[in-house]
Amino acid sequence: MPIESGLKGARVLVTAASQGIGLGAARAFLGEGARLVVNSSNAEHLERAVRSLRSLGEVHGVVADLRRKEELDRLVDATVAQLGGIDTLVYVTGSPRPGVFMEQEFEDWTRAAELLVVSPAYLARRTADRMVAGGHGGRMVFLTSTAIREPIGNIATSSVCRIAVAGLVRTLARELGPKGIRVNGILPGYTLTDRIGEVAADAARRRGTTPEAVLKGLVQEIPLGRMGTTEELGRVVVFLGSEMSSYVTGAMLPVDGGSLRSVG
Ligand SMILES: NC(=O)c1ccc[n+]([C@@H]2O[C@H](COP(=O)([O-])OP(=O)(O)OC[C@H]3O[C@@H](n4cnc5c(N)ncnc54)[C@H](OP(=O)(O)O)[C@@H]3O)[C@@H](O)[C@H]2O)c1
Repeated sequence: MPIESGLKGARVLVTAASQGIGLGAARAFLGEGARLVVNSSNAEHLERAVRSLRSLGEVHGVVADLRRKEELDRLVDATVAQLGGIDTLVYVTGSPRPGVFMEQEFEDWTRAAELLVVSPAYLARRTADRMVAGGHGGRMVFLTSTAIREPIGNIATSSVCRIAVAGLVRTLARELGPKGIRVNGILPGYTLTDRIGEVAADAARRRGTTPEAVLKGLVQEIPLGRMGTTEELGRVVVFLGSEMSSYVTGAMLPVDGGSLRSVG
């Protein structure tokens, strides 16, 4: 029997989706027949993404800065107005500035915490309100990073703050499971997007080498011998954001070509 995602007509919100991992996830859901709202903070970037997705199905863009409470409120309200409810939330976010721990100031920690801790928690709260009111349960998938298991030196704020997402996923899975809402997380390893270029350029400047040499070194550490693509990540997001994973909640799944070395 073929495996069905059951996503035809499902109402899906994907945040930070004007490019990279979010855009790849949006494409994957549209491929399954879902109806989408995609978000990002830049109107021009988002319009370009929506244009590139339109031939794949129903998609609406909502510009909102994920660090701002009023904009998160507006994002949820606009999604419900466009789609009639939310069945799946896919939470992707932007990145804090790269840098080692000793370069970070108080304001860097505040900005990183707004983007990586407060934002997913508050959006989850507002989305859960709607899912509970809808009475059909729902699914949430939070994208974070393998850095929460094995901190990466030159993205210090990210390595520290993103670990909160693991706590959020477990907390929500326990509290919302009885209401039929499943909550899971994904730990992407190195995935080919603009963010990789930014991190490689920062590491190259620091080590007095080239971004190409940094990228080559990173790939040598990946057992599968290459970085992942946004399409490969998108397929896993669809799995956790659909009924294909109907008995999975509270899980944090690495999608990293085998990069993580730690057990458990
Ligand atoms: N690529 C990797 O290897 C990798 C690995 C692990 C984790 N991650 C993390 O996964 C996330 C996505 O990565 P990526 O590689 O796809 O990054 P990317 O290509 O730089 O894309 C980032 C996306 O976030 C949006 N964004 C940034 N700030 C935002 C804000 N305040 N509100 C709403 N949207 C915002 C951007 O859109 P606008 O500019 O239009 O707002 C863009 O669509 C990032 O948090 C990244 O650190 C990436």
